[in-house]
Amino acid sequence: MEKAVVAALMVVAAVAALLPAAMAGVVDFCVADLAAAPTPAGYPCKKEAALTVDDFVFSGLSKAANTTNIIKAAVTPAFDAQFPAVNGLGISLARLDLAPGGVIPLHVHPNGNEVLVVTQGAIAAGFVSSSNAVYYKTLHKGDVMVFPQGLLHFQINAGGRSAVALVSFSSPNPGLQITSIALFGSSFPSSLVSGTTFLSPAEVKRLKAVLGGTN
Ligand SMILES: *[C@@H]1O[C@H](CO)[C@@H](O)[C@H](O)[C@H]1NC(C)=O
Repeated sequence: MEKAVVAALMVVAAVAALLPAAMAGVVDFCVADLAAAPTPAGYPCKKEAALTVDDFVFSGLSKAANTTNIIKAAVTPAFDAQFPAVNGLGISLARLDLAPGGVIPLHVHPNGNEVLVVTQGAIAAGFVSSSNAVYYKTLHKGDVMVFPQGLLHFQINAGGRSAVALVSFSSPNPGLQITSIALFGSSFPSSLVSGTTFLSPAEVKRLKAVLGGTN
């Protein structure tokens, strides 16, 4: 390639690399105004004059959540709806509490990548890729695992005691869709659930009774 062409491409690449930073620099931050309707780009901003340091601090992840439920586990989100400061910043986080036998069932975050760090206990975690390769491992305190955006994944307690993990996302609103709830805890007609999953009508009926589905 001509030297001049290479130089021009390098300039274009350098400018392109600066663009996101320049756009982020239009405003320092955009603490969500939760009273306003969210848009695809997030919430409108609260007026800076109305903000204090507490708008940038969230204490909701400090305590274990109640895990007395069917999954023996709890997800405590610090997404934009709970922690308005992450609005517009492309980040958020959550805490996972898993009692012995607890599970975060197979689920998807449609809008963000996830990274998980185990802070207590042992957790078997994994995901299934688009080509149906299955990546799973038992993680211990301090271990970190990545779950790429949009892929089915799970976390399940792998020890005899409570386990805790902190997860962070590359989105202020990663979304959370749990497969078994979508199928058996919704109004998805049982005949269509059976027809689209190859599960017998009796098994669909049993799971709907367990998870509260209708139709
Ligand atoms: C935890 O949740 C269960 C079920 O909803 C409830 O019975 C129990 O009182 C809760 N425990 C605490 C400590 O809030």
